[in-house]
Amino acid sequence: TIVVLDFGGQYTQLIARCVREAGVFTEIIPYNASLDRICGEHVKGIIFSGGPDSVYAEGSKHCDARVLECGIPILGICYGMQELTYQYHGEVGSACVSEFGHTAIHYDRHPLFQDVTAETVWMNHRDKVTVMPPGFTAIATTPDCPVAAFANEEKRQYGVQFHPEVKHSPQGDRIIRNFCYEICGCAGDWSMDNLGDVLIRQIQEQAGDSQVVCALSGGVDSSVAAVLVHKAIGERLTCIFVDHGLLRMHEADEVMAFYQAQLGMKIVKVDASQRFLNRLKGVSEPEEKRKIIGEEFMRVFEEEAVKINGDYLVQGTIYPDVIESGGENGAVIKSHHNVGGLPPNISFKGLIEPLRPLFKDEVRRLGESLGIPHKLVWRQPFPGPGLAIRVMGEITEEKLDIVRRTDWILREEVAKAGLDQEIWQYFTVMTGVQTVGVMGDARTYEYVVAVRAVTSRDAMTVEFAELPYELLKVLSTRMVNEVPGCSRVVYDITSKPPATIEWE
Ligand code: XMP
Repeated sequence: TIVVLDFGGQYTQLIARCVREAGVFTEIIPYNASLDRICGEHVKGIIFSGGPDSVYAEGSKHCDARVLECGIPILGICYGMQELTYQYHGEVGSACVSEFGHTAIHYDRHPLFQDVTAETVWMNHRDKVTVMPPGFTAIATTPDCPVAAFANEEKRQYGVQFHPEVKHSPQGDRIIRNFCYEICGCAGDWSMDNLGDVLIRQIQEQAGDSQVVCALSGGVDSSVAAVLVHKAIGERLTCIFVDHGLLRMHEADEVMAFYQAQLGMKIVKVDASQRFLNRLKGVSEPEEKRKIIGEEFMRVFEEEAVKINGDYLVQGTIYPDVIESGGENGAVIKSHHNVGGLPPNISFKGLIEPLRPLFKDEVRRLGESLGIPHKLVWRQPFPGPGLAIRVMGEITEEKLDIVRRTDWILREEVAKAGLDQEIWQYFTVMTGVQTVGVMGDARTYEYVVAVRAVTSRDAMTVEFAELPYELLKVLSTRMVNEVPGCSRVVYDITSKPPATIEWE
């Protein structure tokens, strides 16, 4: 194990991710945890994370000084390097020139920098080491930072002022890998399978013999979380699957077929379509739709959950949700999540959030290692309010039917063209606009359907996908021929920003 000691830095999870990618198990532990916890038997190395404070500021974070004497190799990153300096009575001063962004660097020959040929790193600091503590020597320099990295070979303690864990530091991951392999002697033979086992054990410890409830949406995150909990506690997990009538074609059946029939999970399926559609009648304002769906979802969920009398609630929160909702500190409930928060009228002992430290692609890899079919693991993101935000204006059965059928054709054709993993999201939008057409010598006046397909890494910025014209041609022909009520198909060629992915 490599312990990442968290001093409150914004990139702590990225450090953990780099370590995992090096095939080494890692655990993030708060800076003020007990000595036993930090320097446990299996710990081969400790990485001190960055942090927002100055080491001299009042109330700034310092670990137990004995951590430095336990003989386990330490790598301090940014604040972590300054913490080493502080603890050993070196000096940290404010840099006369703050360094932010790409910075040229010169590395000395050192096992930490083995095979690192890049000449820049990503800096993000105001303070720097001005006087190294006794026993430390500089092993890298930048124009404004003569001690961009230091080492104490006898103690096997190292520090870097830059951030090797961020993508903008080319080959930075190599430095973390070198620390794990060359300095700490880790083998790099850990994998996602091991992570599954560890998470399952943690869930067992947390849940004891309690009853646990989960809102299963069929989305990747809630599914992987539910499967993990199911593996951990079996029958004591009950999933509630709310069909709000705004799902895609065959979606509800697919979810039930796999999770209930194949995996044997206990699932209560609630068909609440009519309830949702009734409440949405006459509503056309997008935020109003979202609000109604969120509220109604909570109500339906609550009605079922009370019957189960569960002690814990499973949520598929993943790390980007934690960041989006305001960071590690504070009550964080995935605001975009289908559950939309905790049911107000049920008191749970707590939340089980096994995916909290993971990134989306890691969740997918974990899902595959748990045996969830490729198709389900690689599902594109689907919003909680479902097709409600893909039917512009008021929602009717007829419009839902048009968006469902055209979406089905789009998914079929994109998969046939082998593009389903390249495109982040692809769906159709029922625009609600009617246009004139001509079919079999007769005038038609029917709906325009828009195709939306985007590429992205994280949904924050997207570009429209450059679908081949051949594919577009097949789409429009099939949609107009096969879907009653659709007489024209357009392609949305807007990126985000300025447009969002969804139309509402
Ligand atoms: P936008 O449209 O904001 O979407 O560019 C970004 C990502 O979030 C999804 N999305 C939602 N997901 N509830 C959700 O669970 C929502 O209300 C919601 N709105 C958008 C969208 O599909 C895309 O992946």
